[in-house]
Amino acid sequence: MKALVYHGPGKKAFEDHPKPVITESTDAIVRIVKTTICGTDLHILKGDLPSCQPGRILGHEGIGVIDQVGPAVTTFKPGDKVLISCVSACGKCDYCRRQMYSHCTTGGWILGNTIDGTQAEFVRIPHADTSLYPILDGADEEALVMLSDILPTGFECGVLNGKVQPGNIVAIVGSGPIGLAALLTAQFFSPAEIIMVDLDDNRLETAKRFGATRTVNSADGKAAEAVMKLTGGRGVDTAIEAVGIPATFELCEKIIAPGGTIANVGVHGVKVDLHLENLWDRNITITTRLVDTVSTPMLLNVVAAHKIDPKLLITHRFKFADILKAYETFGHAADTRALKVIIEA
Ligand SMILES: NC(=O)c1ccc[n+]([C@@H]2O[C@H](COP(=O)([O-])OP(=O)(O)OC[C@H]3O[C@@H](n4cnc5c(N)ncnc54)[C@H](O)[C@@H]3O)[C@@H](O)[C@H]2O)c1
Ligand SMILES: [Zn+2]
Ligand SMILES: [Zn+2]
Repeated sequence: MKALVYHGPGKKAFEDHPKPVITESTDAIVRIVKTTICGTDLHILKGDLPSCQPGRILGHEGIGVIDQVGPAVTTFKPGDKVLISCVSACGKCDYCRRQMYSHCTTGGWILGNTIDGTQAEFVRIPHADTSLYPILDGADEEALVMLSDILPTGFECGVLNGKVQPGNIVAIVGSGPIGLAALLTAQFFSPAEIIMVDLDDNRLETAKRFGATRTVNSADGKAAEAVMKLTGGRGVDTAIEAVGIPATFELCEKIIAPGGTIANVGVHGVKVDLHLENLWDRNITITTRLVDTVSTPMLLNVVAAHKIDPKLLITHRFKFADILKAYETFGHAADTRALKVIIEA
């Protein structure tokens, strides 16, 4: 079969690769119908994630059709359409029993990281019964691809951890796919204001269309002052960090109101200063999280009921044979205005 294979920092190839086989009785082999590229795949290609070794097929998002199941799989059978979760979960270990699937002792975020991923014609999914979701006939398949990773990530790590409440003021720093997913799902809770911060005016325009009440371009280095002005000097109740660099986390530290919550979503590669000299008396909470995908069943219902439309995030479409072109487009988002790209078989 064909697959997109990581060959070390800066190197990838679209090449022939053996089709995966069932290795555990709880595995399923899924034929990929649609997949996409995540910012995290670009992090891997930069060499930021040493857990992902050369020779690995990338990708942790997608939908497909069950090709084969191991003897212990009871929920799915060949021919069933499924949504693939970016996190694999055994459902039985101590972390899974606490709904921390991301820390499953035999799963977690392994797809396209420590085991071969979804940017291929076929993928092996471990713990299939508890890592796949059935797709009902008539469902919008492109919209569902956004539920493998970005929607649960924005919602769980940003909105739930950030304790977004009706009438509150929320700031989301970073208007990429994850920040925009947080923006879409924050509106479940009717906050009074959602202020989006980014360097890219195009992404801020998109944020306005998605329901942002205010936008701040932080290119001038004065975003903290701008947010404080917009909030009458009070600051925000929830600050969601959706970039993953020191400047944006420190911005959250500057704009958080007393009693507020800073919810970190970004993957950080270097240390960030925690300004306790300013924050010790502010009654704030800081949270971190790797997406657990516990909200996926709820998000499937919300999308099926057309309460949100994650398809809005899709800007480009490619055939699987053109996946290198898809990477090129996604990797130059500032020029191509790409958010999420759909890659279809
Ligand atoms: N915690 C988790 O489980 C989890 C899961 C998935 C992704 N992530 C992380 O979430 C983060 C966001 O993901 P994404 O796919 O949206 O990334 P992205 O790179 O597409 O978007 C980041 C956005 O931040 C903006 N930005 C960059 N520097 C900025 C600055 N100084 N001030 C304001 N805005 C700035 C960029 O213009 C871009 O729009 C990444 O770090 C990603 O690795 C975390
Ligand atoms: Zn991802
Ligand atoms: Zn587990």
